Amino acid sequence: MESLFADEAFDRRPRVIAPGAVWLPGFLDDAAQAWIIRQYTIWQSGPVPAHATSIAGHPMSVKTIGLGWHWQPGRYDRHARDVNGERVLSFPDWMTRLGSQVISQAAEVVAEDVGSPSQAPELWGLVPEDYRPDVALVNYYDAQAKMGMHQDKDEFDPAPVVSLSLGDTCIFRFGNTRNRNKPFEDIRLASGDAFVFGGPARFAYHGVTSIRVATAPECGRLDHLGGGRINITMRTTGKD
Ligand code: SIN
Ligand code: MN
Repeated sequence: MESLFADEAFDRRPRVIAPGAVWLPGFLDDAAQAWIIRQYTIWQSGPVPAHATSIAGHPMSVKTIGLGWHWQPGRYDRHARDVNGERVLSFPDWMTRLGSQVISQAAEVVAEDVGSPSQAPELWGLVPEDYRPDVALVNYYDAQAKMGMHQDKDEFDPAPVVSLSLGDTCIFRFGNTRNRNKPFEDIRLASGDAFVFGGPARFAYHGVTSIRVATAPECGRLDHLGGGRINITMRTTGKD
């Protein structure tokens, strides 16, 4: 029995994954998860539909909605020029507050981590109240969708990225800043989990290797979308 509980992958205590990267399992309560899932329905009917962005001519398997800015590889624009030319919805204020709360809780985890070489403000270059993300990329994953190992490097501001997960659990691979290969860690990001990567981890390679079908809790079920997973990443573009 002991070995059953020895697997780190099933340990859902908040944890520093790498210097600058923190996982907060169960950050969103049931009501918050259900509420954000309802916001997704509003965003879906917004001016720019969830769409598969093309990278070097190949459509991604996730469907993306941008809030605040529209993303295309290597650029952020207020208008979705590769979709329908419409201006994207603005970045919601509640998400700024939520982002600060994630950074604040993650800072507590860093402070308690005996192995951490530095504390959160030095690590991330800001105090939680000063976190001002201006874009959210909202990605929908169906059962087959994945995301290859990549760096988030289209932003000019070094602020951390904050990620929120809803719906089915995924296997999130969090690696190193040098290349797509080992060392990396596979983490089960479940509905309600938050994840922060900034400072020395800001340019770590990361990706989603699989979606675990029908694993969402009641409050996080995406039955109206045919199941699957929603991930929100907040970033700070550094653009006006
Ligand atoms: C991303 O890397 O932008 C998304 C990560 C995720 O879906 O958890
Ligand atoms: Mn990314």
